[in-house]
Amino acid sequence: MCTNGHNLIELVDIEKIYRVGTELVRALRGVTLNIRENEYVAIMGPSGSGKSTMMNILGCLDVPTRGRYSLRGHDVAKLSQSKLARIRGRQIGFVFQTFELLPRTTALKNVQLPLMYTQATKKRQRAMAALERVGLSDRAKHHPNQLSGGQKQRVAIARALVQEPDIILADEPTGNLDSETGEEIMAVFDSLHAEGQTIIIVTHEEFIAARCNRVIRLLDGLIASDVQNAETQERRNVKTSKRRNVKTSELFRDSQ
Ligand SMILES: Nc1ncnc2c1ncn2[C@@H]1O[C@H](COP(=O)(O)OP(=O)(O)OP(=O)(O)O)[C@@H](O)[C@H]1O
Ligand SMILES: [Mg+2]
Repeated sequence: MCTNGHNLIELVDIEKIYRVGTELVRALRGVTLNIRENEYVAIMGPSGSGKSTMMNILGCLDVPTRGRYSLRGHDVAKLSQSKLARIRGRQIGFVFQTFELLPRTTALKNVQLPLMYTQATKKRQRAMAALERVGLSDRAKHHPNQLSGGQKQRVAIARALVQEPDIILADEPTGNLDSETGEEIMAVFDSLHAEGQTIIIVTHEEFIAARCNRVIRLLDGLIASDVQNAETQERRNVKTSKRRNVKTSELFRDSQ
């Protein structure tokens, strides 16, 4: 384990160039960035600025054209395919705008899915525990079409959590939700962050970014600004100390 305060993620001069026919698209043009454990980061920027490209690289779903990506001090480019697959499966939890749940499968089975091809024991209990953390244990047997948008996204967050990943990467997780439900989803992320989870969220919404501790803005494939949100940090410290032992599920006890 990396001790708190060390860099979990190091990007050095990352470039990503896509070739489309004869044309080259420079999606990232030299991004250098460190992210420490338990950071709560918002990535913002106009459409096409490279946010999803960066998330795909961070999630080891894609590789940069140039530059170095180190995860817990390991150069990702030097890892074998099997090691990379393991990192994708175990160390990184993904949350998408469109939830990406299996429609004919219960919430519980959806959450259990990442464990199916692992040696993990007590798969069902672990999936239930993840649903509990997002306040949805009473919806375990529901299918996605029996859940609200916010509940679907909470199932997706539980699925991302079930392997207890080092990092949660969420690409516009509130993009398909109204602002009230978006706030509800952010309350889940806030609580996970308070429990020590490292979270990186792509968003177009200022009110979402304002809840994070740090806001990185991309413009044309470059970092335009990278700001620590001191005010949020102060507020969060107060909130965290007040509810240190409050689990996410308790936040939703009255909303079901
Ligand atoms: N697979 C691909 N092949 C070719 N070009 C791509 C590919 N993926 C992304 N691009 C291009 O790279 C640039 C960055 O795209 P990216 O999806 O990272 O933007 P984004 O910031 O996530 O935008 P949005 O807010 O619309 O989701 C864009 O110009 C896009 O057209
Ligand atoms: Mg995108």
